[in-house]
Amino acid sequence: MAGGSARDWHDAQVAYWAGAGGQSWLKGAVRTEAALAPLGDRALAAAAARPGDHVIDIGCGTGPTSLALALAVAPGGGVLGCDLSPILTDEARRRALAAGVSNVRFAAGDASTYAFQPAAADLLFSRFGVMFFGDPVAAFRHLRGALKPRGRLVFLVWRPFKENGWAFVPFAAAGPLLPQMPRPAPDEPGPFSFGDPERPRALLTQAGFADIRIDPIDATIALSRGGLDEAVESAVEIGPLSRLLKEAPEDVRDRAVAAVRAALARHVTTEGVVLPAACWLITARNSAA
Ligand SMILES: C[S@@+](CC[C@H](N)C(=O)[O-])C[C@H]1O[C@@H](n2cnc3c(N)ncnc32)[C@H](O)[C@@H]1O
Repeated sequence: MAGGSARDWHDAQVAYWAGAGGQSWLKGAVRTEAALAPLGDRALAAAAARPGDHVIDIGCGTGPTSLALALAVAPGGGVLGCDLSPILTDEARRRALAAGVSNVRFAAGDASTYAFQPAAADLLFSRFGVMFFGDPVAAFRHLRGALKPRGRLVFLVWRPFKENGWAFVPFAAAGPLLPQMPRPAPDEPGPFSFGDPERPRALLTQAGFADIRIDPIDATIALSRGGLDEAVESAVEIGPLSRLLKEAPEDVRDRAVAAVRAALARHVTTEGVVLPAACWLITARNSAA
């Protein structure tokens, strides 16, 4: 939606994640979460949540990191997972109940405006859930209001699209067969919108965060631990490609999927279908003393 306003961008993200985006995330959740777990573990280690801490997990999805944080903050602490998609927070509640974890709650809502308890959280955490705000400075300022003075923030975000082979390789293979996707404006929300580290640094500074550190994590993502079929399914379900394929006529879609398959065949290893992943681990503190 190049050329839109921050409000339009935000409304589009809300409509997407609360609707089709949430549904498609849920469909692939087990596989996607397994692929993201090693990256999430790096962020959880950096967060070093302690018993007694109160944590907000932003864009928590079905809550895998919320559950891990809830175990880390027990006894005495608790976690609030907040996500736009009610079907994802329903699933998160179901999982917490099944796992017998009682110090976690889930709220379906927009984290950029949600009525969090003011100045009560020790830690704001997110695994890939903070790149979708139309007005990120306003959103991070709002989130900072939920944080105790000197409270911590730990976010994992993607580096640029081209460094993330798990998304770029299938897209580059299928792209020439699909209608041209409009190039996003540099400040438009989306999974790779914090690729340039100066952008989150500037946004967080303006929102009142201090001690900002942005460290690279170079890793790999297994699109499948099994065969190529499963990897193709993952590749066409997540990332920017999924939206384009949904809108394509069936014959174009079939040819695009075949091209993705041929490209992914080059990444089959004994560990599954494995591609490069590149993230920023961002940590900061509430500047309010
Ligand atoms: C890429 S998924 C990551 C989900 C989860 N953190 C994980 O790693 O499994 C991004 C999530 O952020 C949520 N999200 C996007 N914008 C949001 C907002 N403004 N408020 C709350 N959640 C949001 C989406 O609904 C989606 O579930």
